[in-house]
Amino acid sequence: MTILDYFKLDGKVAIVTGASSGLGVAVGHALADAGAAVALGARRSDRLAVVRSDIERSGGRAIAITADVSDPDDCSRLVAEAVETFGHLDILVNNAGIGTAVPAIRETPDQFRQVVDVNLCGCYWMAQAAARAMTSGGSIINVSSVLGLTTAGLPQAAYSSSKAGLFGLTRDLAQQWTGRKGIRVNALAPGFFATEMTAQYREGYLASIEPRMLVGRQGEPHELAAAVVFLASDAK
Ligand SMILES: NC(=O)c1ccc[n+]([C@@H]2O[C@H](COP(=O)([O-])OP(=O)(O)OC[C@H]3O[C@@H](n4cnc5c(N)ncnc54)[C@H](OP(=O)(O)O)[C@@H]3O)[C@@H](O)[C@H]2O)c1
Repeated sequence: MTILDYFKLDGKVAIVTGASSGLGVAVGHALADAGAAVALGARRSDRLAVVRSDIERSGGRAIAITADVSDPDDCSRLVAEAVETFGHLDILVNNAGIGTAVPAIRETPDQFRQVVDVNLCGCYWMAQAAARAMTSGGSIINVSSVLGLTTAGLPQAAYSSSKAGLFGLTRDLAQQWTGRKGIRVNALAPGFFATEMTAQYREGYLASIEPRMLVGRQGEPHELAAAVVFLASDAK
């Protein structure tokens, strides 16, 4: 064994939510490149089908499953279909998310609830369904955000709350499952990446936060995907 062997995911099965665009696409490709069979979940079936074909063209194994993570039944079905197709489940990447920016004075209860339903509750429904299927050695990776830790000038009470809540969820599931079931639970806190989510933010937003970015630039999707592969792998 060399150190690089610990990063290989051959024989492992992964689910990636929010795999129809942005960071989830990069994560799906990275896990497949590292050797995992990947179940891609999101609501837009047409986009998922394209990602699936691209992974297969690159020599990977993937299936596409249409699912809304805010619906617990969809989460159970997504896990069941992944296990039925590939035989077991080792990795869950809770990446699906929405990032609306609405001034707090105007934000409606439904707008706030929708973000929390997807970004926080959706991760919990997926983690519960996945942990029921996983055996020792499983890994759950929650994609949170720096906005769960700090502010960045946009009116994002719902988004920031949901992502801060995801850190609490991650800590609690880790204490419940890591020692007892051998399932590791970690969170990542990405900074800024150009995706469909960030394309909706106001003109000049990126320039306004650039001085606070230590590397002086936005992230590249493969940089987040590499961190996911590490946390998913036996390199841990
Ligand atoms: N981009 C950044 O700068 C940044 C920074 C920190 C954290 N993040 C986090 O990274 C994750 C990915 O975001 P992104 O930037 O790649 O944005 P994106 O391109 O908009 O992707 C979001 C993904 O989530 C899926 N999704 C949304 N609602 C869903 C639902 N109810 N059920 C299932 N899937 C759902 C979308 O697919 P469908 O619409 O097809 O369902 C899409 O695949 C999010 O959790 C986001 O908060 C992003």
